[in-house]
Amino acid sequence: MIYWDHNSTTPCAPEVVEAMRPYWNDDFGNPASSHIMGRRAAAAVNKARQQVATLANALPEEIVFTSGATESNNLLFLGVLLSPLQERRQIAVSAIEHKSVLEPARLLQERGFELIELPVDKNGAVDLEAAARLITPRCLLVSVQAANNEIGTIQPIAELARLAHDNGAYFHSDAAQALGRIPFDVLKINCDFASFSAHKLYGPKGIGALFVRGGARCWPWVRPFRGGGQEADLRPGTLNVPAIVGFGEACKIAAMNLDKKRRFLDELTTRFRGILHEKIPTARVITPIEKSLPGTLSVIFPKVNSDVLVANCKTICISRGSACNGAVGVSHVINLIVEGGYRECVVRISFGSQSSLDGLDLFINTVHKLLENQHE
Ligand SMILES: Cc1ncc(COP(=O)(O)O)c(C=O)c1O
Repeated sequence: MIYWDHNSTTPCAPEVVEAMRPYWNDDFGNPASSHIMGRRAAAAVNKARQQVATLANALPEEIVFTSGATESNNLLFLGVLLSPLQERRQIAVSAIEHKSVLEPARLLQERGFELIELPVDKNGAVDLEAAARLITPRCLLVSVQAANNEIGTIQPIAELARLAHDNGAYFHSDAAQALGRIPFDVLKINCDFASFSAHKLYGPKGIGALFVRGGARCWPWVRPFRGGGQEADLRPGTLNVPAIVGFGEACKIAAMNLDKKRRFLDELTTRFRGILHEKIPTARVITPIEKSLPGTLSVIFPKVNSDVLVANCKTICISRGSACNGAVGVSHVINLIVEGGYRECVVRISFGSQSSLDGLDLFINTVHKLLENQHE
């Protein structure tokens, strides 16, 4: 099986699986317990918190573990929603955010907030001039993803954070696709909040974090969840120790290999593009390679329906777009970036650290066969 869908999820690194192993049934204590087993589990969580923080250049107390980036994004927006006595009633998000930002933002809109969608250019990058006009002192929160999951665009988030702060607004970035894949430094970006997900960087599924600048004591809004007080009361509930340990280990490995992995993926993507261009000249890569996530390629194959192509690539796992869009048809991202007529013809290929071009001939033959069928 050939797996070219690393923006959907990545396999757990063997070191990650190994690091998690003792915490299932040997060191299985609850980190909130004061006895020795609890203290051991708490020490493992603290170590992982430090590892996650190091990768993002944050402080350990600024990392709040959640079940993933979806929950982190929702936690932030629900906090805003539940704090009704705010003078500022405007929220700004980019038009190509992940649904776990767009939908909570729309919920705020339904409840009386003004929602501003920051426009993007043809490459999916937020238009900074438009953003400078649209972000005003009435704005409470600006949220723009670090990198797009579908077409790979890396957003100018440091500039957007500056625009937000110049207007007295908070800045959040959904960094699910960025952490561990491109440098993501909360101090350099100067963000107030950021969402992370372990399963995009060779960690386990169902674990992630919300970075809160200054830690939970600086949380400016109502805490949406109630329970046992874990994670400084921002995300109460018994901690998933094995997953947290795995997340920490994945961050440790990512921090060591960031540049090397990036060079490897850039080279692989360039070779893939070259061969694709030669063998299928009608194919058009819409990912702006210079400013995009390493290893991500969104490609239009004119006259080839993407669902049919995905189904025919029986032993090659590629995707039509974001896994989170499921069977919803053309995503909001493709609708914005791609001209009508081609929107049904876009597939996403996302390479990972174990990828190679094995399977490329099979892939190209599959596209050729589908194109030939068109002419019959
Ligand atoms: C940009 C972005 N945000 C959020 C998510 C959701 O992350 P999780 O699966 O950890 O909830 C994803 C995952 O596809 C993503 O790509």
